[in-house]
Amino acid sequence: MTTQSEQRGDVAALVPAAGAGLRLGPGAPKALRPLAGEPLLVHAVRNLLATPDVGCVVVAAPPGEVDAVRAMLPEGVLVVAGGATRQASVANALAAVPPEFLIVLVHDAARALTPPTVIARVAAAVRAGSRAVIPVLPVVDTIKQVGDDGEVLATVDRSVLRAVQTPQGFDRPTLTTAHDQASDDLTDDAGLVEKLGVRVDTVAGDELAMKITRPLDLKIAEALL
Ligand code: C5P
Repeated sequence: MTTQSEQRGDVAALVPAAGAGLRLGPGAPKALRPLAGEPLLVHAVRNLLATPDVGCVVVAAPPGEVDAVRAMLPEGVLVVAGGATRQASVANALAAVPPEFLIVLVHDAARALTPPTVIARVAAAVRAGSRAVIPVLPVVDTIKQVGDDGEVLATVDRSVLRAVQTPQGFDRPTLTTAHDQASDDLTDDAGLVEKLGVRVDTVAGDELAMKITRPLDLKIAEALL
């Protein structure tokens, strides 16, 4: 694996990896589940370090696993303890980013196969002036709004919907402000930026950036590798 000291990039990447990942079934925290013999997190960090833009990686590990996580990653990757929520884990990782990094990506250990091309595309959009950027894909399923009793309430116009992936990219002051002012725990950082009223831009995502959430996803990811 490329070591961080060989990197020359101006981008910091945060990897919240402290979740339990119960949807994968019982076992180790999700980021530490093996995929083709290595933890998901190791694959995700490898793809970040393979992206020349990335000069700093900070992982938020399950609080009891900080030393173990540090030992499985290349020298130079920073590892901090995660928090009770994803948002808290991101905030902990953000606080550890050295001051010279002014572009910050927030990735997800569960998107272990995200290609460096996607990571570079997000970083490039921030460098070109976007304050917040997310990779997206068109939605392929028909989406319905359903009430508590199972009744279909509406069919949503699929053409205006996008599925959101990571890494999400930010200029650092925007992400810091979004976290400082956050009150709810949202599932993504761009959502916090939207609440500030700041424009969020999109770039093309990639099917390989799929989120490995359920047992079938792990099987698909192993087949892809
Ligand atoms: O649960 P979900 O799949 O949405 O989690 C997304 C990411 O956030 C995962 O990589 C998970 O490890 C991370 N997370 C975290 N700290 C938490 C909860 C989730 O770092 N307390």
